[in-house]
Amino acid sequence: MGPLSAPPCTLHITWKELLLTVLLFIFWNPPTTAQVTIEARPTKVSEGKDVLLLVHNLPQNLTGYIWYKGQIMDLHQFITAYTIDTETIISGPAYSGRETVYSNASLLIQNVTKNDTGSYTIQIIKRGDKTKGVTGHFTLYRE
Ligand SMILES: *[C@@H]1O[C@H](CO)[C@@H](O)[C@H](O)[C@H]1NC(C)=O
Ligand SMILES: *[C@@H]1O[C@H](CO)[C@@H](O)[C@H](O)[C@H]1NC(C)=O
Ligand SMILES: *[C@@H]1O[C@H](CO)[C@@H](O)[C@H](O)[C@H]1NC(C)=O
Ligand SMILES: *[C@@H]1O[C@H](CO)[C@@H](O)[C@H](O)[C@H]1NC(C)=O
Repeated sequence: MGPLSAPPCTLHITWKELLLTVLLFIFWNPPTTAQVTIEARPTKVSEGKDVLLLVHNLPQNLTGYIWYKGQIMDLHQFITAYTIDTETIISGPAYSGRETVYSNASLLIQNVTKNDTGSYTIQIIKRGDKTKGVTGHFTLYRE
């Protein structure tokens, strides 16, 4: 481990000037079913506001959903999960306390920060072990 002492953060940009926008990158293949899509509402989010990632065209017969930060389903990036049978919500290592997963798989992120920008992936777990991943992506820009 290097003797790194992080320099004090001198970023004093007024984050209110910064907006979040959402671009969606969908990775979804099966041709026979309606495409699962993620819609961010609203599409432009100011720092400190809430954003809801709505999941549309959810397949039938699911056992649950897992939300991850990033574009891969990495356990370390596991934010929160919902199990349908037991209506249980589970929090993972990437849970900040501001994310809420609903029974319809949508994810609410409250009080968004600059750190919340990036990609989010939902893993949809079907009965019989079949899983699918769908990714949504946030970017931050100045107004
Ligand atoms: C859901 O699973 C049940 C039991 O396995 C099956 O009978 C039913 O057809 C399935 N429904 C759909 C929409 O796949
Ligand atoms: C999912 O549930 C949330 C909270 O009840 C609601 O705001 C949202 O509209 C629902 N999403 C869909 C796609 O129905
Ligand atoms: C939102 O985040 C800011 C900075 O991270 C914090 O000071 C504030 O208390 C938070 N507000 C809520 C409602 O969580
Ligand atoms: C953003 O992430 C950095 C590095 O992980 C951390 O030092 C900082 O406290 C985070 N800021 C907020 C507002 O969460």
